[in-house]
Amino acid sequence: MHYSPKMLFALFLSCIMLVFNNNNNRVFVTATNTIGLNYGLLGDNLPSPSKVIDLYKSIGITKIRIFDPNTDVLNALRGHRDIGVTVGIRDQDLAALAASEEAVKGWFATNIEPYLADVNITFITVGNEVIPGPIGPQVLPVMQSLTNLVKSMNLPISISTVVAMSNLGQSYPPSAGMFTSQAREQLVPVLKLLSQTNTPILVNIYPYFPYASDPTSIRLDYAIFNTESIVVQDGPLGYSNMFDAIFDAFVWAMEKEGVKDLPMVVSETGWPSAGNGDFTTPDIAATYNGNFIKHIVTGKGTPKRPNNGIDGFLFATFNENQKPAGTEQNFGLYNPSDMKPIYKLF
Ligand SMILES: *[C@@H]1O[C@H](CO)[C@@H](O)[C@H](O)[C@H]1NC(C)=O
Repeated sequence: MHYSPKMLFALFLSCIMLVFNNNNNRVFVTATNTIGLNYGLLGDNLPSPSKVIDLYKSIGITKIRIFDPNTDVLNALRGHRDIGVTVGIRDQDLAALAASEEAVKGWFATNIEPYLADVNITFITVGNEVIPGPIGPQVLPVMQSLTNLVKSMNLPISISTVVAMSNLGQSYPPSAGMFTSQAREQLVPVLKLLSQTNTPILVNIYPYFPYASDPTSIRLDYAIFNTESIVVQDGPLGYSNMFDAIFDAFVWAMEKEGVKDLPMVVSETGWPSAGNGDFTTPDIAATYNGNFIKHIVTGKGTPKRPNNGIDGFLFATFNENQKPAGTEQNFGLYNPSDMKPIYKLF
């Protein structure tokens, strides 16, 4: 049986007990951030990229993330410079790129440079959830080469990587947040590199998985931002939603490694609308995602970082029928065949 990082994190969180109480939550409003959307392509019934870009424009989306430098999508984005694009390097390309700086230059010349005049590429992400894991050590050298390259070309592109919460060996309460030993080996050097240029680490945070693995101990309203009251009190910090608690556990874990104040961008979050009975209805998905959008656009931070608004991307634009059956196919906001929303969100 294969355990994905998400599943392992869910299993690990299923061991925790939640403490309930009813203090009032304080809201800190500081800045305004915009929501981004992940644009996955693992479906055989997806609309053309130009139709998808029209959809983004119609709902006011100005930030998207694609998982590889797909030429059809990048060509369709030409001229739409108001859309900031995060482009991923495919995991299977990392080994060759980690082996030589010349290979990285070649990858950049082929996959990024041809679009720079017309496409607003803001981030390149080196691997998706490969840290922690067997190819995790390939991330740092590729990031280092790319960072040097964009600097030498004087380009305003941030180089980072996307990591899963399975890097946390402990996350409850948030102040106990601590990385696993593998994460300390693979992730901490990456965080130190990012710190040199104050470039965000990209994190995927899914309260759905711990909730679905232990719905009797974890309150649904806490998992989907549907209560104002404090559910977890952690010293002076009070948590009314699980998203903030997971985010802050990561912040605490970084601090314990001497990485302070490094920005974090939420590269993925979401809730499936089907695939797991009563836990995955369009109503619950709409509530989670709607409340996440509110969290982002009101510029609210987390209890540990109250003054830092969060940048975040919802996962994902479409249901993708070539992903594993079940919930994995049902994270989309839109039906691919007719581009109709699965529930009202925008
Ligand atoms: C490029 O995208 C970024 C991030 O979304 C945005 O802040 C910036 O204004 C965009 N650039 C242009 C020229 O619109």
